[in-house]
Amino acid sequence: MEEKIRKLGERRGKVLEGGGLKRVVAQHEKGKMTARERIAALLDPGSFVELDAFVEHRCAELGMDEVVAPGEGVVIGYGLVDGRQVFVFAQDFTVIGGSLGEAHAKKICKAMDMAMKVGVPCIGIEDSGGARIQEGVDALAGYGDIFYRNTLASGVIPQISAIMGPCAGGAVYSPALTDFVFMTDKTSNMFITGPQVIKAVTGEDVTAEALGGATVHAATSGVAHFAFPDEAATVAGIKKLLSYLPQNNVEDPPLVDSGDPASRSDPGLADLMPDLPNKPYDIRDVIARVFDSGDYFEVQPLYAMNMVTCFARLCGRTVGIVANQPKIMAGVLDINASDKAARFIRFCDAFNIPLVTLVDTSGYLPGVGQEHGGVIRHGAKILYAYSEATVPKLTVILRKAYGGAYIAMCSRHLGADQVFAWPSAEIAVMGPDGAANIIFKREIDEAADPAALRKAKIAEYKAEFANPYKAARRGYVDDVIDPSETRSRLAAALAMLGGKRERGPSRKHGNMPM
Ligand code: HXC
Repeated sequence: MEEKIRKLGERRGKVLEGGGLKRVVAQHEKGKMTARERIAALLDPGSFVELDAFVEHRCAELGMDEVVAPGEGVVIGYGLVDGRQVFVFAQDFTVIGGSLGEAHAKKICKAMDMAMKVGVPCIGIEDSGGARIQEGVDALAGYGDIFYRNTLASGVIPQISAIMGPCAGGAVYSPALTDFVFMTDKTSNMFITGPQVIKAVTGEDVTAEALGGATVHAATSGVAHFAFPDEAATVAGIKKLLSYLPQNNVEDPPLVDSGDPASRSDPGLADLMPDLPNKPYDIRDVIARVFDSGDYFEVQPLYAMNMVTCFARLCGRTVGIVANQPKIMAGVLDINASDKAARFIRFCDAFNIPLVTLVDTSGYLPGVGQEHGGVIRHGAKILYAYSEATVPKLTVILRKAYGGAYIAMCSRHLGADQVFAWPSAEIAVMGPDGAANIIFKREIDEAADPAALRKAKIAEYKAEFANPYKAARRGYVDDVIDPSETRSRLAAALAMLGGKRERGPSRKHGNMPM
């Protein structure tokens, strides 16, 4: 027996070495950790339990019968993050470039299947040259098996992808199917076709970083939800995100008592609102003052910055905040902001995270580019996502809520459970300037002093319509509140909605605009 145990240790030692010292050094020289180092950084010390360490490929083609691939180029298992169970898989670039063959894919599928079975988040760390070329269609089949599982797990367990190296070709579609994509600056990239293929097909010259680096995907394409400067910061970001999330779709997120009292009033909130209606302010200042301890975690902070989406806590309970950002493009709704908000809303709804919507937008962005880009189709996603969501939905209208944007930003009509308005709210079909020019056009045109009459009519419309009381009179707004009470009113509403149960009609699934 002793000899057998010694041999076991020897075998395990070989697996732990991964692709060997030379390749590990090369990995470190690129500023990258190895797969095992990443898992160690992510999980609580000593909690990782590895599975399938001895799995081997069975490919004999193109010289593969000679190739030993410790761990098959991917490390899988389970462990704890801040005391909570997760499953993890991490591709090992030191072993055949982390390329994905049949056995490698089966390991990943096992981690996903187990995560689903026990109802815990699944975190994938990607660092791979893509489909293992020698394994041909078996490698493609492996990807297909993973995509299928990503889709089945969607809305059941949180799925998080961390891109920490190359992620090319069809391989990008597993992260794209997961809930959140993290990328590390300078050392990760994602693209369907790389720089060489692009050069050959379109003649464009582009580096891998400029094509699909972290900054590009975080700020321009919206593929990545988070970009961090290095791997340690990326891992810290994953842990922070997990702290807001439930383990699965039948659990509530964990309660974290911040000691911030529900009744805390904040007279300074009113001062954040500029006196002039077109003057910008940073909605994040409002968020920081209202929610627990000023702490919030922004999702896609660099993409569609005219819309802020973030997790925060209210009296210890996770909430998802969707807010127009008056500081960027006057908080207008456009194609990218609609996509960003809709996806976030759907995630929160799937995982029992109440939604708080902060409204200050003059509406959908006018323009040929937006219309031809499908702002109708994309804008509809917000309506769909809010209407479909059954979690508690709280809305605060801070300033402008005009036209379609009033409806879209979680109005009563899309099922908001409670709608509050600050006294500065302006709720109407359109802004005073546009409205006065249309409804008083003939009078203005015929006036002796059209400019003076226009001004007077704008003021008249503003006094009559640009306030929250018409909507409050109809009960579309439940109350007009002093801004200083925002936290206490939201906290009371959230507590009141604790028992909310709402079911949509029975159906296979809806057909969300895409
Ligand atoms: C087999 C691979 C591999 C792959 C890398 N390797 N990618 N082996 N299949 N796809 C091997 C290399 O041969 C090398 O082995 C080792 O991994 C490290 O790779 P290097 O090229 O030395 O590393 P580096 O210079 O850092 O370049 C990394 C890389 C490059 C940019 C990822 O390896 C690369 O371009 N690989 C191919 C990428 C690709 O086109 N993949 C297929 C995409 S199509 P040795 O023994 O020399 O150390 C796809 C379809 C999926 O994925 C479809 C799903 C629907």
